[in-house]
Amino acid sequence: MGMLETKVALVTGAGQGIGQAIARACAREGAKVVVSDFNKETGNATVEMIRETGGEAIFAFGDVSQEDSVRALVRCAIDAYDRLDCACNSAALSRGSGPIQDYAREVFDETLEMCLTNTWLCMKYEIPAMLDSGGGAIVNISSNASLRGQPFNGAYAAAKGGVNSLTRSTAAELGKSNIRVNAVSPGVIRTPTIEKYLEEQPKIAAGLVKSNVMNRLGEPDEIAEAVVFLLSDRASYITGQLLSVDGGNYIR
Ligand SMILES: NC(=O)c1ccc[n+]([C@@H]2O[C@H](COP(=O)([O-])OP(=O)(O)OC[C@H]3O[C@@H](n4cnc5c(N)ncnc54)[C@H](O)[C@@H]3O)[C@@H](O)[C@H]2O)c1
Repeated sequence: MGMLETKVALVTGAGQGIGQAIARACAREGAKVVVSDFNKETGNATVEMIRETGGEAIFAFGDVSQEDSVRALVRCAIDAYDRLDCACNSAALSRGSGPIQDYAREVFDETLEMCLTNTWLCMKYEIPAMLDSGGGAIVNISSNASLRGQPFNGAYAAAKGGVNSLTRSTAAELGKSNIRVNAVSPGVIRTPTIEKYLEEQPKIAAGLVKSNVMNRLGEPDEIAEAVVFLLSDRASYITGQLLSVDGGNYIR
């Protein structure tokens, strides 16, 4: 029996990278998966991958930076499966980086919107759906940038620090309502976005590989395993936590 058997799970940013690995792992563990992304092509491709391996999934378009879109996305999940038990809020996009004093106001604001406000918007609509379903579990995807700080990426690091605080505050509000809320903090993970960056910046790539105690990048599936555990009933007494999955990047 899978760890998420009988559950309905919503995953944002599931068109590629970490979100895609999470959606596939949820399906492997028996969940009916609502695969969401603002890229219809990659989102539908994830659904196909899940169906090819015998899993159950639908695609639901969602731009998580837009409130109407998030409302419609959660509605779509309920219309399809009549309940929502699990949600992983993985979609995020950094709008730019650079010295803190050089950020344009709109770039800073947009990064907060795409990495922090989006997480709040998702929970705003996921929580009522979970309350109607008798409870649930949420995992927000943070970043080790929120723990260590990240030079020349201050807006992203600050936004992810906000995700950590939001996760703890929401967990404290919802404990009595049988909704657990946790966050997973990845180290450097081999996703298409990171691979492209590393190809362009080979010197930085070598440093990143050595930025953890295991001397290698992480794989999206390694994040997915932690998320599936936190979403499952095996984590029934865990809430308000931030779990780093980083090959020991933080302790280095
Ligand atoms: N890859 C890493 O090394 C790393 C490290 C720390 C944290 N993270 C976090 O993990 C999560 C996933 O990262 P990734 O590397 O897999 O990213 P990615 O860029 O490879 O994939 C992100 C996915 O989210 C979608 N997306 C982006 N903005 C969206 C929006 N507004 N609405 C709907 N979909 C949207 C994209 O289309 C894409 O499919 C992010 O929250 C990221 O900040 C990644």
